[in-house]
Amino acid sequence: MVAINENYLKLKAGYLFPEIARRVNTFSQANPDAPIIRLGIGDVTEPLPQACRDAIIKATEKMGQRESFRGYGPEQGYGWLREKIATHDFQARGCDIDASEIFISDGSKCDTGNILDIFGNTNTIAVTDPVYPVYVDTNVMAGHTGAANEKGEYGGLVYLPITAANDFTATIPSQKVDLIYLCFPNNPTGAVATKEHLQAWVDYANSHGSIIFFDAAYEAFITDPTIPHSIYEIPGARTCAIEFRSFSKNAGFTGTRCALSVVPKTLEVKASTGEKIQLWSLWSRRQATKFNGVSYIIQRGAEAVYSPEGQEQTRGLVNFYMENASLIREKLSLAGFAVYGGENAPYVWLKTPNDLSSWEFFDKLLTTCHVVGTPGSGFGAAGEGYFRISAFNSRENVETALARIVKAFG
Ligand code: MLT
Repeated sequence: MVAINENYLKLKAGYLFPEIARRVNTFSQANPDAPIIRLGIGDVTEPLPQACRDAIIKATEKMGQRESFRGYGPEQGYGWLREKIATHDFQARGCDIDASEIFISDGSKCDTGNILDIFGNTNTIAVTDPVYPVYVDTNVMAGHTGAANEKGEYGGLVYLPITAANDFTATIPSQKVDLIYLCFPNNPTGAVATKEHLQAWVDYANSHGSIIFFDAAYEAFITDPTIPHSIYEIPGARTCAIEFRSFSKNAGFTGTRCALSVVPKTLEVKASTGEKIQLWSLWSRRQATKFNGVSYIIQRGAEAVYSPEGQEQTRGLVNFYMENASLIREKLSLAGFAVYGGENAPYVWLKTPNDLSSWEFFDKLLTTCHVVGTPGSGFGAAGEGYFRISAFNSRENVETALARIVKAFG
C-alpha cells in the first residue's frame, strides 16, 4: 500500500490566502455586482519598474540569438546579480557579506520552506505568534510538530506572542530553542525590531548554538533610519543567522519571481559525529540538486533594480505603497480604530471593533463594505481580535475602501 506523508493531515483547513479567496469567491458569486476591493493578500498592483522591463526585454532578445542564447544557468544565480546584491544591499550598509554567500531563488516563501531540508527533525522551533503561516505549515509538513490544539497551535512548537502588550516584539524565550523564525519589518503586524532587540536575539542564538531565520522581505519599507535592514548589521550574526530577501514587494516581482537567501560561510553546526559542518555547503548542495535557478531573463530584470533608474523607480513604488499605508493609518485611527504598523511596513494591523473576532470582522467588512482584509487569527492564536489591511493597491481603491470602512464603522 502506498503511504502518504500523513503530516499533511495535521494541517488546519486550507492555507490562509486561498481560504480567504474561497470565501470571497463564494460571496461574489452570490453578489456578482458587489464592487470588491482586495486589501487582503500582500500582492503588488503597480506595474514593474521601466528599468526592469527594459532589461527583461533586452534579455529576451538575447535569448533569441544563437550567440547570446543561454541554457541552464548557475544554480546559485548569476555572479553579476549576486555581486550587485552583495554590494548594494549588504556591504553598503556595513554588512560583511560576500557575493558567494548569496543564493538567488524564485521566492522567499520557497526559501523559508526549503531551508528545512538541511536541518534535522529533532530541533526545537520557535515562531512568533502571529506569524507568516508558511513557517509553521512547512514545519508541520516536515513532521516537526505534533497535532494542532483547539486554538490551532501545533504541539512541539514554541510560540512567542507579539501583541500590543509587548509592543509587537518577540520576547526572548527562557528555554533553549534551536531554530528561530524572525520577520522584521513584521508580517503581519508591521512592527520593526530595533538594533538592541536584534542584538539580544543574536546574542541568545550565539550563546545557545541556535540558528535565526531572518525574513527581511519587507526591509525596503523601513523609513526609520535607526532600524536595521539586515540581521548582518548586528555584530555576531554571521555565526547564527540566515537571511531571506525578495524582489517581490520592493520591485513588484510577485508575478515575476526572484528572491535570495544569504548563508554566511561562517555558519557552522556540529554533526552527530562532532564534526563541524558549514551550512553554506549543505544549502549549496541542496540547491544544486533540487533547483535549476531562476531564469536568465528574470535575473537580468532583478539586476536592473540596482541601476540608477531602477533604484529611483523602486523607491517610487515603495513610497507609493507607504503613502497608502499612511492614509490607512490616518483614516482608520480617525474613525476610532486602534491601529499599529504601517510606518515601516506595508501592513496596518488593527484591533477589531466591538470585540468582534477576526473572522467576524472579516465577514462584516466583506458583506457591508465589500472590502477584503486578512483576519489576524489566520496568522496565529495571538492574532485573534486583530486584522491586517494591506497597503498594496491603487490609490483609488485604497481611498474608496477607506471611505466605505469609515462610513460603516466611523
Ligand atoms: C502576505 O500577504 O502575507 C504575503 O503576500 C504572503 C507572501 O508574500 O507570500
